[in-house]
Amino acid sequence: MMPKRTVKIAPSILSADFGRLREEIDAVIAAGADRIHFDVMDGHFVPNISVGLPVLESVAKRFKGKITLDAHLMIERPERYAQRFVAAGADIVTVHTECSGCADAVRIIRDSGAVAGVVLKPATSADAALPYLDDIGVVLVMTVEPGFGGQRFQPEQLPKIHKLRDIIDSRGLSVEIEVDGGINPETAKPAIAAGATVLVAGNAVYKSADYAEAIKKLR
Ligand code: DX5
Ligand code: ZN
Repeated sequence: MMPKRTVKIAPSILSADFGRLREEIDAVIAAGADRIHFDVMDGHFVPNISVGLPVLESVAKRFKGKITLDAHLMIERPERYAQRFVAAGADIVTVHTECSGCADAVRIIRDSGAVAGVVLKPATSADAALPYLDDIGVVLVMTVEPGFGGQRFQPEQLPKIHKLRDIIDSRGLSVEIEVDGGINPETAKPAIAAGATVLVAGNAVYKSADYAEAIKKLR
């Protein structure tokens, strides 16, 4: 029997009501969230634009130290902005392995004093994360194509989570596996069973009537 891991829940504010962002973050903290997942999109790496540095800075002013701020950068050339996301208040900054500046960004994030992570798009194999495992705190496995909330979970990604879990455990590393996209009470189960320790949830939390109940159902 595998030891039961504690699962952390990271609501994605992409699905929150941005006009009431402060209340929306207060509400998920009160509801038991472990982190705030902050999706940054540049309209190039993904076909959508979301929020960036000024919004993170405002959020961090109010919430830094109260909850872990997890910035997921879906942007080209992440090495150009990585340091500024740490300075703006991110505790964790994750960058896509598909970007040319990924390795530089990881180094910059660490040097700036935050936890670095790498992200794998659905078509990217687990192997892309391997060179980074000694330098990062988290691998983020996308279970949808990045760019939009509210998409369907891709169960085809489960073997990738399994593989990463095996490698991380066999090397005795404490790297977290975070899963992002289409997480709900049904899809959370196989993701956790495959070895995920952090679940990002946008719609499953922010489009629910009761955030505490929604978070509880995901664990
Ligand atoms: C997609 C984002 C996700 C998104 C998840 O590009 O990285 O974090 O907000 O939303 P749901 O949980 O609704 O799929
Ligand atoms: Zn995300």
